[in-house]
Formats: sequence, structure tokens, C-alpha cells
Amino acid sequence: MSSRDAIGIFDSGLGGLSAVKEFMRVLPGERIIYFGDTGRVPYGTRSRDTIRKYAFQDADFLLKNNVKMVVAACGTVSSVAGSELEEKLAVPYTGVVNPTVYTAVRKTKNGKIGVIGTSATVNSHSYKKRIHKLNPGLEVFEQACPLFVPLVENGVIHRDDQITRLVVQRYLSELKEQGVDALILGCTHFPLLHGAISDFMGEEVELIDSGCETALYAAKVLKEQNLLNDDQSVKTPEFYVSDTPEGFKNVAELFLGRDMEHTVTQIDIEQY
Ligand code: DGL
Repeated sequence: MSSRDAIGIFDSGLGGLSAVKEFMRVLPGERIIYFGDTGRVPYGTRSRDTIRKYAFQDADFLLKNNVKMVVAACGTVSSVAGSELEEKLAVPYTGVVNPTVYTAVRKTKNGKIGVIGTSATVNSHSYKKRIHKLNPGLEVFEQACPLFVPLVENGVIHRDDQITRLVVQRYLSELKEQGVDALILGCTHFPLLHGAISDFMGEEVELIDSGCETALYAAKVLKEQNLLNDDQSVKTPEFYVSDTPEGFKNVAELFLGRDMEHTVTQIDIEQY
């Protein structure tokens, strides 16, 4: 095993925790280093150049911490800068678009797939293009839901919260009318709103989130490249953020169900 022994995961903020949760389940013996760019969230309303710049700074921070793989647990980065990261990083890389699309294409029965994400993701049509590459006959309906991101960052995530319910209804009514039976949560913040989204869309609509599929894909890549840790004892993840750890800690504790007191550290991302 090389000295690069951790999996580096990043997102603009809290959203990537939905992937971390799955990585901890699928790869409990791997060390995880997570960076949430809480000082610069949201990414999804920014220009391509800015998102690209942030993405490379985030990846560089992780590489300086000796990660053996970089995961952009962010639909926006995966959509806008994914190919470039894959090409330029010196370690294996994955985003969330491809693994998620495979599941959606497998799961739909009526051939109507909904995609929700940030404005940058929806404008890039990354999920739609990928779906049509796998099966051009499927119908894809896209909807940007930018307000979901601040709701999550501020912990307004409960299924019975009136504000959450109203915003969900506002964004998802059309997709519901269009009769999609699979809905891609194309932004990693959105699984934190799973309850409210599921209540509105109904049980018959399958919500597809990227975390599990991405973790399974990463496990496959690490195994193929002989990069899995020899020591498979359960590891505690390390979390880094670019703004005060407080808000992050509270939502992360709620979401991951663990005490984050000593594991969240603030860094200055602009220096990377
Ligand atoms: N969690 C991110 C995504 O998957 C980004 C949200 C944002 O920063 O706008 O797209």
C-alpha cells in the first residue's frame, strides 16, 4: 500500500455527506477525508469558470492530504468540470453523474425519468445526455431546484416543515404531472430532503440518489487498481470546511448520526 491511503470526497457544502454515509457503509475499512466548501456554497448558481476553479482547488487540498482517489460528491462539479478532473488528476477520480444514471435507466418502468439539480447541472444537461447515450428512447424531464441547497445548508430539512413542503411542491409539481416514475436527485444536497420529496412525489416514484452507486463504483475502481487498505479496521472520517464548523457540525450530526465534535476543522481553501 502506498502512503496515499485515504479516499478524498468533496462538495460545496453539506451535500456530499449523503455520499459519505454510503462510503462508510460500503467501505468501512477505508479512511475518508471530506472537504465541504461551506465558505463558498452554493456552486450551482455560478459560472462554469468559477465552478472549475473551485473544483481544482478542492481536489488539490485533498491531494495534499495524500488521498488515493478523489470523489466529486457534487452534481454541479461532476457536470461542469468532471471530464477535466478525470483527465488532469494524478489519482483515480469519479463524479456522481455516471453511476447514478445507470441506476435510473435500470429502474424506470414507464421510460419517464425526472432529473432535479442545481441550475448549472440542469443547464449542462449532463444527466440527460448520459441517459440518452445509454437509451435514446427514454423521456427525460429536467427541473432546476436552486432553493433546495440553502434549505439543506440551514438544516430546514424535515418532511413536515411547512417551508420545505412548499418549496418541494413549487419545484416538483410539473414533474409529478409529467408522470415520471424515477427521479434522479442530481444534486448531492437533495437526499437530505428525501422525506419531503418522497411525500410529495408518492411511493410509486423511485428516488435515485448518487451516494450508494458512487461508493460501489469507487470500491470497484480501488479493488481493480489494488488500492484498497490492507488494514480493514473501521476508520473515523475527517471533515474539513472553509467556514465555521458550527452549522456543518449540527446538520452533519443529525444526518450521519454521530458526534462530530473533534473531527471538523476549518481551513483556508484559497491557499490551495
Ligand atoms: N451539492 C452540490 C451538487 O451536487 C452543489 C450544490 C450547490 O453548491 O449549489 O450539485
